[in-house]
Amino acid sequence: MTPLPLLSHIPGPVAPPIVGHTLTVVRDPYGSQQRFIDRFGPVYKTKVLGVWHINLCGADAMEMVLMDRAQSFSSAKGWDAIERLFAGGLMLQDFAEHRRNRRIMQSAFRASALESYRKAMVPALEEMIAALPRGRRFCFYDAIKDLTLRIGCAVFLGLRPDDPQAARLNRALREQINAALSVIRAPLPMTPMQRGLRARAQLRAQLRGLIAPRRRAGGDDFFSRMCRARDEDGNGWTEEELLDQFNFLMMAAHDTTASALTAIVWLLGAHPQWQVKLADEARRLGPDLSAAGALEDMYQTDLVIKEALRLVPPVPFIPRRAVADVTWQGHLIPAGASVTVNPGVTMMSPALFHRPERFDPLRFAPNRAEDKAHRFAWAPFGGGAHKCIGMHFALMEIKLLLAVLLRGDRITLSGRQPVNWQRLPIPRPRCGLPIVLSRA
Ligand code: HEM
Repeated sequence: MTPLPLLSHIPGPVAPPIVGHTLTVVRDPYGSQQRFIDRFGPVYKTKVLGVWHINLCGADAMEMVLMDRAQSFSSAKGWDAIERLFAGGLMLQDFAEHRRNRRIMQSAFRASALESYRKAMVPALEEMIAALPRGRRFCFYDAIKDLTLRIGCAVFLGLRPDDPQAARLNRALREQINAALSVIRAPLPMTPMQRGLRARAQLRAQLRGLIAPRRRAGGDDFFSRMCRARDEDGNGWTEEELLDQFNFLMMAAHDTTASALTAIVWLLGAHPQWQVKLADEARRLGPDLSAAGALEDMYQTDLVIKEALRLVPPVPFIPRRAVADVTWQGHLIPAGASVTVNPGVTMMSPALFHRPERFDPLRFAPNRAEDKAHRFAWAPFGGGAHKCIGMHFALMEIKLLLAVLLRGDRITLSGRQPVNWQRLPIPRPRCGLPIVLSRA
């Protein structure tokens, strides 16, 4: 094992024995980070889960690390906590290897591909939203996690949500996601990690059986496209590469989108005047949401989505590992050091956003354009080589779901306010966000 570099020259709080700063950071990641920045400045170290991390805070630091012009920061080594489950996924690759695979995956995200996913998504969404309870309280977060998983099976795999294969795949994916988010990282008996690794093997076996038929005569779904995917030079993936990439992609797509939708529904419930605006906008869209250009006029919805992703970004911290010595603001970041950049806290900075704690979607309107203050002022999808490849897909799914929901229903919050968000690893409302849907 490579010895960890010495970080005695980096300022930071004294680490309590054994747990270090783990509990402080997990309990209140935003508050503790702000307190540490106030005490030590935007470059400081903390010890979390037994490892010292250098926190590089602010939009400039994000630009330096994520744009990574000198290839000094590894994403694969930064995200090594999920390597056991998602090795071979795009985010767990670096530099030339990452570039090669990203070019191949890109072909499944072209505009024409997104059009066909939209066509598959609309009827599935309409059916699933019609089946949500009306007039009684239910937990939106659980419902939306289930719904986005089932939409995933329809769009990513071309399976009907009632297909037994879809249910098995969903179960396996859920086990893997639980394992990825669990605190115990070793596959000890009865732990989520052990169940997750079993699920990984099962999911791969099931998907492997689909590859040959989809390569011969696949449809327009995501998996079929990835089976046939080629970059501009005609290079495609082996079976193993395909399984690794697809497994990771399903994970990357799910909890992030479910978390974002939960934040949006919460904010619309808390700000009914915006709910009315978005419902009016949704009703003005044509009757067929799968028609070309159907989502073009959703300006107000765009503002709300941006504001929700600022206030509750699904990926509030992004990890990397330095693979070369870098000097930043007078501090040496030695090769081997774990570093973390912080879109979440940066997007709450009063230096970038006026009264950042307030829900104020008009801050993104052209006359204010607060997000344009810095290239990385608003960065919920990251940036640079690893910028979210599913960004347009995610925005399309979110807009479609909001349009279908708000055309027919009104959202009323039914739990204690304000909602308490657990920020890590992917934000979720601790209460599950109880709501009541009623016919508008
Ligand atoms: C609101 C929803 C989403 C948010 C906020 C989000 C955010 C992010 C962020 C911040 C990264 C960069 C991580 C890093 O630099 O280490 C990322 C990467 C990624 N995302 Fe998303 N994501 C979302 C939805 C999706 C969806 C729907 C998909 C797939 C359809 C997806 C697929 C990916 C993949 C494959 C990567 C890795 C890209 C690479 O390493 O080149 N994401 N996402």
